[in-house]
Amino acid sequence: MRRGILTIAAAGLLVTGGLSACGSDEPGGAAGDKTPKIGVILPDSKSSARWETADRKFLEEAFKAAGVEYDIQNAQNDKTQFQNIAEQMITNNATVLMIVNLDSGTGKSVLDKAKSQGVATIDYDRLTLGGSAEYYVSFDNEAVGKLQGEGLVKCLAEKGVKNPVIAELNGAQTDNNATLFKAGYDSVLQPKYDSKEFTKGPDQWVPDWDGAQATTIFEQMLTQTGGKIDGVLAANDTLGNSAISVLKKNKLNGRVPVTGQDADLQGLQNILAGDQCMTVYKAIKKEADAAAELAIGLAKGERKNTGQTVRDPEGNRDVPAVLLEPKAITKENVNDVVADGFVDKAKLCADAFAALCTQAGVS
Ligand code: BGC
Repeated sequence: MRRGILTIAAAGLLVTGGLSACGSDEPGGAAGDKTPKIGVILPDSKSSARWETADRKFLEEAFKAAGVEYDIQNAQNDKTQFQNIAEQMITNNATVLMIVNLDSGTGKSVLDKAKSQGVATIDYDRLTLGGSAEYYVSFDNEAVGKLQGEGLVKCLAEKGVKNPVIAELNGAQTDNNATLFKAGYDSVLQPKYDSKEFTKGPDQWVPDWDGAQATTIFEQMLTQTGGKIDGVLAANDTLGNSAISVLKKNKLNGRVPVTGQDADLQGLQNILAGDQCMTVYKAIKKEADAAAELAIGLAKGERKNTGQTVRDPEGNRDVPAVLLEPKAITKENVNDVVADGFVDKAKLCADAFAALCTQAGVS
């Protein structure tokens, strides 16, 4: 009973933007009482626009506002480079290391190395399976997938497609998030396959979330099914855009609903144009702020209570976590993303998109 109340209290603090501090000298606050110097390793700049346009920007803003030293680098999808950056940050006396892993294996070796050198760590956005990070900061990723599945079902219903054939373009199999997104959308789609309301079509992982490979994969999917694909569950806007480019070549864009994630500029413009049925908006500013706050606390030797944990099935441990809520975006509420300051209206509504923005009520 008491525990329950405490947990709710901690969660309440989180919602109002603050995290509760639980003492300054607990073990595990590996960094100790040091001047914060936070190293961040982003994964790449191609699998999604978010890493460079949103995460870097919001993390920088949070560190600057707190007046702490920081170093944000991008591994450009190179695992050796990822490890080199980590070593360099540790050598340069980082007090906390925040990583978006490229896979759990290299992620784990970086986290373990940091730990052995007394550097505290945070898994940012992607959980490192079997890892040793003090915290995991992300969104509820199964909920992201559920929104995608439900969004696709809704778009197909609006088009009145009967017994649609669904193609699934999953993210990178090496990214635990891609597994969670799939669990989320399959929890919606599988019952429809089972009841024969929908037909399960091709279903593939896209290595590295790579757009070029997704285009090739989707071209093959379309050929293999003789052009009979009625809906595409694409796990993010990059993969969605790849499918849309192939659909365009085949004059099928707009007729076949495609999902996405990240509410990036391209994805939102595809929605305005009617080529993409939905995306999932994740308020990255909140993710960056929560991670920065925890990192600064760790550097000061604090262990803040997030009021929530996530199970690492490989490491068999409950990782203290912050999981934020995602939001589905369709043409009807594109403006919410603009209003939240996530995309620049001038860029979104440039040129041919001006009229579409007006139609969609983007103000
Ligand atoms: C992130 C997504 C992103 C994808 C590709 C995932 O781990 O959660 O937001 O689109 O990686 O970078």
